[in-house]
Amino acid sequence: MFVFNSPTKLVFGEGTAAGAGSELKALGVHRVLLVTGPGRTASQEALAGILVSIREAGLEFVHYAGAGADPATTMVDEGAALYKKEGCDGILGFGGGSPIDCAKGIGASIGENRPIRDFIGTGLAFTKPVPPLVAIPTTAGTGTEVTNAAVFTLVDGPRKAKTGTAGTSLFPRVALVDPTYHRSMPPELTAATGMDALTHAVEAYVSRNHNPISDFFCLEAIKLIGLNLKRAWKNGDDMEARSGMALASTLAGVGLSQAGLGMVHGFAHAAGALGGLAHGMANAIMLPFVLHEYISDANTRLAAIGKALTGRQAATALDAVSAIAELGSDIGIPPNLKSAGIPESLLPELFDDAKTYKRRPQSPRLFTDEELERLLYKAWSDSMID
Ligand SMILES: [Fe+2]
Repeated sequence: MFVFNSPTKLVFGEGTAAGAGSELKALGVHRVLLVTGPGRTASQEALAGILVSIREAGLEFVHYAGAGADPATTMVDEGAALYKKEGCDGILGFGGGSPIDCAKGIGASIGENRPIRDFIGTGLAFTKPVPPLVAIPTTAGTGTEVTNAAVFTLVDGPRKAKTGTAGTSLFPRVALVDPTYHRSMPPELTAATGMDALTHAVEAYVSRNHNPISDFFCLEAIKLIGLNLKRAWKNGDDMEARSGMALASTLAGVGLSQAGLGMVHGFAHAAGALGGLAHGMANAIMLPFVLHEYISDANTRLAAIGKALTGRQAATALDAVSAIAELGSDIGIPPNLKSAGIPESLLPELFDDAKTYKRRPQSPRLFTDEELERLLYKAWSDSMID
């Protein structure tokens, strides 16, 4: 028995972001809260096409550019306050995963009429309808434009934790996936976000909650990443590779929203919140180390990943792990946490955070705490490259 529920309308292809205004209008929106990060995507240059589309549809807009990386719950509160003050009736999230997650958080907080932190780690579920939300991703990685999940940073005194929330109301109504907007991503961002997409597809494929339809999305995403990530990293203007990665990221997003994730993300969230490591980079480093531990539990599934990624029919589980480590190395991912700047003194805290990851039971191997700790220390100092 399984459920497949992926209700987001997907409009894919070069130029599709120009439909933002008409999509919002069709959803009954008159005054939209445009949510972006404070940097690159908030510039007039980046937003020009989107703003033309909003104006041409006869809509008004208010711009909230405070969605920082791994948005703190206070950023969501700020955006929600602006939404209310300005009388908005719909949301457009534009940017990488963080602004879109922030936009989702604002929507949920408005719909539920309570702060987003009430839903984090409390077991409280999202139950109320949310304002219409359109998402336009400017990176090919998170897939959040088609998922039911969002990640926030909860700041509690000196302690920071990155925590995911999920609920059916977090699925955006429309995703406009326009690879034109991925062209300006620098190589490091292309690498990190692309490896995040690969991690989603791989973790969802080996998840205990996988199903035949999520498998289909994950394997296709892995295949597209094998064909296109290195190309997009090498030449950002290669639009065929950019399109392949944009599609891969979205397909992986559908896969993960159905099947869940595992301990690679458990470690990556901890390394992001406590060590400031970029999400995609943390995943890319952890992925081969964690997969190596899965070889006996998920041998056939790992071999299928190896075949999809390399195109070699004879690929084994071990080949999959090596191919992933090599791909990361080829596109500039450091071999371990130490070389990514994580100090050894941080490892006990990282371990304490990672071991409480709520999706830990979805991993194909049910690690003991001792195994997880050993794995973390190995990923800090070793290398999976021969
Ligand atoms: Fe991720």
